[in-house]
Amino acid sequence: MGRPPRRNLRMGQRDMPITILIGAQWGDEGKGRVVDWLAASADIVARYAGGDNAGHTVALDGQVYKLHLIPSGILHSDVVSIMGNGMVVNPVNLVREIDVLRKLGLRISPERLVISSRAHIITPAHIALDEAKEMALGAAKIGTTLRGIGPAYLDKTGRAGIRTGDMLLDVEEFAERLVASMEATNEDLRSQGLQTLDARAAAQSYLDAADILRPYIRDVSIYLYEALKAGKRVLCEGAQGTLLDIDHGSYPFVTSSSPTAGGALTGLGVGPLFVERVLGVAKAFSTRVGGGPMPTELDGDIAERLRGSGANFWDEFGTTTGRPRRCGWLDVVMLRYAVGVNGLSELMLTKMDILSGLDELKLATAYMIDGERFEYPPVTNEQLERAIPIYESMPGWSEDISNCREFGDLPKAARHYIERVAQLCDAPIEMVSVGPERDQIVMKTTRPRVAAPR
Ligand code: GDP
Ligand code: IMO
Ligand code: MG
Repeated sequence: MGRPPRRNLRMGQRDMPITILIGAQWGDEGKGRVVDWLAASADIVARYAGGDNAGHTVALDGQVYKLHLIPSGILHSDVVSIMGNGMVVNPVNLVREIDVLRKLGLRISPERLVISSRAHIITPAHIALDEAKEMALGAAKIGTTLRGIGPAYLDKTGRAGIRTGDMLLDVEEFAERLVASMEATNEDLRSQGLQTLDARAAAQSYLDAADILRPYIRDVSIYLYEALKAGKRVLCEGAQGTLLDIDHGSYPFVTSSSPTAGGALTGLGVGPLFVERVLGVAKAFSTRVGGGPMPTELDGDIAERLRGSGANFWDEFGTTTGRPRRCGWLDVVMLRYAVGVNGLSELMLTKMDILSGLDELKLATAYMIDGERFEYPPVTNEQLERAIPIYESMPGWSEDISNCREFGDLPKAARHYIERVAQLCDAPIEMVSVGPERDQIVMKTTRPRVAAPR
């Protein structure tokens, strides 16, 4: 006890240059487009969790970029994009993504993209095992993206994984590790009576990818530490969302990583004293893709209306899998929880424009479960399945808000909706988005550290 250590005092007095941006719901909140907006005032954008289960959409001047592994800062030519140790990387898919982005005119080089040597590699055997596990679960399946995410993290925590840094080894040695890892996963497949992979054949495309990726791989934590000491500003890009977190989500209907704010520190190897701001991004309504409880899920006309037909790229169909997303009213109980477990300093609402034209809007402010009122989600999934949302009704607005850029431009009912959400979750909301394009953002106050894109 007593005085904090000297070193902490020094750090505390220093400019705190890290912003952590997280998804406050079940993923797909619009994180990619917000990262793209905030990247204008960052030097580095760093992804810290997940793999190509993520799909982050950024729309700029009519061009739509779909990012799965590469951070959403990549559209800014003066920003360094970092892939952290908390990620799981499919090297073949990464090379493919680099190619797609290059064809769209983006410059990608080892000066602009840095891959942690400590990220884990997803192999084709992990993908096969992901599929096998889902099949075995039948109706109880998690609804994973089938990208091999769970099996890769399982090998990581089981201390049997192979890492991106292994690509720096002698080619033969890397090939041996890769084959050995796939053979081990083959054992699991065999034990379930499932088809195994020809590990040597499957390894070839990985060796080719390693040749391309080698120059991008380095120690990211040290890179970030040096950058932070030199005064660089770092934006940490969350993937997935709070309610998909392996610890804090609705387990087992979760992903296998830590998308919450704490995951940014371990998933990049940076210390908490550099963090200034934790921004939660939430959609103005709820969506979920995959299985698991969703208390405010709707069927029928309103769900269809929120989802859209699929004709627009922003309609609610998975960026990675194309699956229709489940839709419902905004679940403030879950948001309140996300504010707590992430220690959010502020919240942002996206897709406000989609609510235009609905006569009545509803906010789930609490749940009733077995006759008891809950302000936060209950401890067990079984209780959550029985949760009956208590709704507060709010008037909608009919105006097209997609051209609004200041809070004062928004209809009164829209401002009221935003203010009520902020009040119910006990977190300020200073930004909302009103369309998918980069500049379709409405800000309450112009703060210097959230500069307009340069
Ligand atoms: P992420 O995974 O959190 O980055 O989100 P996704 O990209 O998977 O899904 C969000 C979708 O909503 C994308 O198609 C975005 O282009 C779109 N989007 C984001 N913000 C807005 C908005 O304010 N209005 C509309 N209409 N679409 C938006
Ligand atoms: P972004 O970053 C929405 C969901 C899957 C499934 C569960 C486990 O775009 O927000 P996994 O393949 O990770 O083992 O699947 O997690 N899921 C996502 N849902 N957005 C995502 O990423 C997701 N990443 C995983 O649908 O329910
Ligand atoms: Mg997404």
